[in-house]
Amino acid sequence: MSGKIPREFIDELLVRVDIVDLIDSHVPLKKTGNNYVARCPFHTEKTPSFSVNRAKQFFHCFGCGVSGNAISFLMDFNHLDFVEAVEDLAGFVGVDVPRESVVFQPGPKKEGLSSLYLLMEQVAAFYVQQLRVGKEGKKAVEYLKKRGVGGDCANEFLLGYAPDEWQLLAGQFNQKLLIEAGLLTSSENGKVYDRFRGRLMFPIRDKRARIVGFGGRVLDDALPKYLNSPETPLFHKGKEVYGLYELLQKDAKPPRILIVEGYMDVIALAQSGLHYAVAALGTALSQAHLDLLFRFTSELVFCFDGDKAGQEAAWRAMDAAFSALKAGRSCRIMLLPQGHDPDSLVRAEGLEAFVGRVQAAHALSDYFFGRVSDALNLSEMEGRAQLIGKAKPYLEKLPEGVFRDLMFARLKELSGVAKLAVLEDSAPVVERQNKPRQDTSRFSSARTAIALLLQNPRLAIIVGQKNIDWNGLEFRGIGLFQAILQTILDKEQVNTAVLIEYFRGTADERVVMALASLDLYVPDDKIDEVFGDALEALLKQGREAGVAKLLAKAQSKGLDNQEQQLLIKMLANK
Ligand code: UTP
Ligand code: MN
Repeated sequence: MSGKIPREFIDELLVRVDIVDLIDSHVPLKKTGNNYVARCPFHTEKTPSFSVNRAKQFFHCFGCGVSGNAISFLMDFNHLDFVEAVEDLAGFVGVDVPRESVVFQPGPKKEGLSSLYLLMEQVAAFYVQQLRVGKEGKKAVEYLKKRGVGGDCANEFLLGYAPDEWQLLAGQFNQKLLIEAGLLTSSENGKVYDRFRGRLMFPIRDKRARIVGFGGRVLDDALPKYLNSPETPLFHKGKEVYGLYELLQKDAKPPRILIVEGYMDVIALAQSGLHYAVAALGTALSQAHLDLLFRFTSELVFCFDGDKAGQEAAWRAMDAAFSALKAGRSCRIMLLPQGHDPDSLVRAEGLEAFVGRVQAAHALSDYFFGRVSDALNLSEMEGRAQLIGKAKPYLEKLPEGVFRDLMFARLKELSGVAKLAVLEDSAPVVERQNKPRQDTSRFSSARTAIALLLQNPRLAIIVGQKNIDWNGLEFRGIGLFQAILQTILDKEQVNTAVLIEYFRGTADERVVMALASLDLYVPDDKIDEVFGDALEALLKQGREAGVAKLLAKAQSKGLDNQEQQLLIKMLANK
């Protein structure tokens, strides 16, 4: 494990880089007024609505709504995770990424990891070569042929063979690295030997083509049928899927990805011409798996055996799916006929029929409500009550959005309970705040002030000049306003890109993004004035609301000493 990237470095990077140059090197931009525009790389469109602003170091698409800073752009455009995007951005600027030293976790250093990656590559090449030599290699090739896998497909997936010997790898590669990479294992008396023996080998590559682990299958009925690499510094089963690298080689943005259960399912489908399948590595699907896959596609189709175990696996996958669903993402469930897996089915029915089944897969919502209402009698009140009890915990996991609303609407419809409090959607309060409210005037001065401050951090000076007493003020977004203000005051150099970075992964992220891209149509020379007015209005409303709240409390529960003092002070200030 390498250390964390220091916050200051990320701030500095976002000040140093020019997002216009960065994006222009991926998507050619055209200058219009203050902005640079292009056709949006994140959705299909005829006229450009993707715009990049140099002063804010921020991009935004008015068509599909994506927005963010240079890091977000690299994450979305190149399908990188956060650390990878920071590394690439640093590379673009021409600096190295420093790491905070990790005191309690000495683990391998960066050099250590790259020598592990190198070893994995050499071992994979060794296994590939073993497939081509000797009697054993021949047997393995026969096995592949018997299962309908040809040479091209074997090459594409870098299939290999680990001969049935105990000390083969140790004689050729560094033993310490082999142990770290999980390629050796040890007996009780401490003797080390090759983990994979007499097995067909499936290298598992991450999306950057690095081999992170292996799966190995016996050529007969011996048990265990499959062995997988253990967790190593390179390999985390809960985060990787089999076949993703090979899939992305064929199509970097597939319209859908099919998730199957086995290595051989992925291979047999590819052999038949279906190149968009991946497999979880013998573990349950995690939200991390799904988030990874949703970086490349907007639709996931889960494929399970039609038997009881398959139904149960489908139900378990629902957990991960519900947490990963948000706007623009969809999941479907495909159940296979009894006794088949994708490998046997595609060979029995052919590609076209199989693709037909993929396309006919159940929408997640239909499957979900089918399963929860299964065996319940919805014409009776008890049945309907049970339905609510079963469904609600799942629906509550759904992130705020249209899909969530529709699912709740469907539950209301099915249960016949339209108005009961039990069905009140209990989304977290922060999320609810995004919704437009009735009293737009109040909302809008807060919104104007926060948006302008985010977009023009220099305005913090104006706030400073006012010597505001925040005590007792009440307005929607006050916490956010203060957090943004404080971040600006803490920094020497700050722009919109740096500010929104502070909110990545927090509950306020979406609000901040929306406010950063909100166009208030204020001419440049009027910004200070409009901000000043909005701030004044906001403070006035904040005081009034604060006073009203104290007065209400005085009438109901009474005020303590401190609250009385505050009320007196606030009334005097008015
Ligand atoms: P299956 O037994 O369904 O795999 O296990 P499969 O791909 O259909 O196998 P064959 O080759 O056609 O007979 C599904 C997945 O579960 C994991 C593997 O990842 C496998 O691909 N598994 C299975 C193991 O990890 N260990 C095992 O012993 C069996
Ligand atoms: Mn199979």
